[in-house]
Amino acid sequence: MLDWEQIFATRSSRMRASEIRELLKLLDQPDIISFAGGIPDPALFPDVAFKEAYADIFSSAQVGSALQYSVSEGYKPLREWIARDVAKIGIDCTPDNVFITSGSQQALDYLGKLFLSPNDTALVTWPTYLGALSAFNAYEPNYDQLSLNGNRTPEAYRDTAAKTGGAVKFAYLSADFSNPTGETIDLAAREKLLALADELDIAILEDAAYQHLRYDGEAIPPIMALDIARRGGIENTRTIYSGSFSKTLAPGLRVGFVVAAMPVIRKLVLMKQAADLHSSTINQIAIEHVASRGFDAQVAKIRAVYSKRRDAMLAALDKYMPKTATWTRPEGGMFVWVTLPEGMDGAELLAKSIATEKVAFVPGKAFYADGSNANTLRMSFSCADEAMIDEGIKRLGRLVSNAIRTAA
Ligand SMILES: Cc1ncc(COP(=O)(O)O)c(C=O)c1O
Repeated sequence: MLDWEQIFATRSSRMRASEIRELLKLLDQPDIISFAGGIPDPALFPDVAFKEAYADIFSSAQVGSALQYSVSEGYKPLREWIARDVAKIGIDCTPDNVFITSGSQQALDYLGKLFLSPNDTALVTWPTYLGALSAFNAYEPNYDQLSLNGNRTPEAYRDTAAKTGGAVKFAYLSADFSNPTGETIDLAAREKLLALADELDIAILEDAAYQHLRYDGEAIPPIMALDIARRGGIENTRTIYSGSFSKTLAPGLRVGFVVAAMPVIRKLVLMKQAADLHSSTINQIAIEHVASRGFDAQVAKIRAVYSKRRDAMLAALDKYMPKTATWTRPEGGMFVWVTLPEGMDGAELLAKSIATEKVAFVPGKAFYADGSNANTLRMSFSCADEAMIDEGIKRLGRLVSNAIRTAA
C-alpha cells in the first residue's frame, strides 16, 4: 500500500481530526440533551423568505446570471447591502471594501494563507475559536497568547516570535460574544489592542460572526470602527473584519464576508480566483433578497428566542452547579463557558455525561492553542428549549457535584 504520509506536504501533519469530534459523533442519539453544537436553531431559519427568494430568481430574467459564473469579489448588490449594514456600527466603507466568502470560515483560511509563512506567530486569545486554529494550522504557524489586559509588552511578543524563527503577523479575536466563552472585549481593551498592533505593526483579524446577536448591555464599537475613527478612513486601517450570515439567516448557503482596506481585498480576490473562483452566485443573490426585505425582523426574532435560552441556562447553572464552578454571563452569542475546579477533565466528564446523564457539551481544552485548561466546558444554549436546558443542567450539576465529591 502507498505510504501517503511520506508524500503529503509537511503542513498536512497539522491537519488532525480532534478526539472531541470523534466523541461528538456519539451524539446522534435521540435522547441526548445537547449543549455541544455551536449552531443556529433550524426552527428559526427564514425558510419561507428563502423559498420566495429562489422562486423570484427562477421566475425572473435573472435566472441565467444566477446560475452562471460570476465575479470573485462577490455579488455587487450584496456587497452594497453589507456596506450599508456595517456603516450602522461605525464601519464606514465602500462596497469595494467588501469581499464575499464561502462562509466566514473561508475568510480565516484565506487570511492564514495571506499572512502566515511557516513559523510565523499568530496571536490568539486563550481560549479561541477552534475553527480558526484549524484554518491557520495548515500554514504552520506558532501561536502566542494574546493578552487583552495589556500586561505583556510588544518586546515580549517579538522575542517569543523570534525564538521560534518567525515574526508576529496578526492578532485574531472575536470582540463580541466569542466562541467559545460568549464574552465581550471592553472598549479600553479594544483601544489597547489597537495600540499594541500599531507598536508591533501587525494586522488585527476581527471575527464578528456573532455581531448581531446582542441580547442586552451597551453595544461597543467594533475594533474596525475604532480603527477607522482613529485613522480617518478605512484605507489607513490595520483591522480586517469578517462577518457571516450563518448565525442570522442560515449557514447552509455558505455566505460570509470580509471588510478591509483595498490592498487586502485585492489579494483576497486573487486568492479566490485560484481557490474557488467565487462563492455560489445564486446563494449570494438569495441572501441579498432575504436580507434587504427582512433582516432586522429576522434578527429581532432570533434575539428574542436566544436571549430567553441564555437566561434559562444562567438560571439553571445558578440553581444546580456546585459553587466551586464558575461561568461567564454573556451579553450575546450562543455560548456559556464553564470553569470547573482545577484537576477536573472536561473530556472525561463528557464521556461519563453521555453514558450516564445523556447530556453533551464540548470539553474546553480544544479551544486552547497549547491544549491547556482541561477543566473547562463550552455550553451552547442555541438549540435547546428552556425546559430542556433546565433538565440538562440539572443532570450535569448532579454529575459535576458527584465528580467533585469523589475527587475530594
Ligand atoms: C467565531 C466563529 N467564526 C467563524 C465561524 C464560521 O462560520 P461560517 O463559516 O458559517 O460563517 C464560526 C462558526 O461557528 C464561528 O463560531
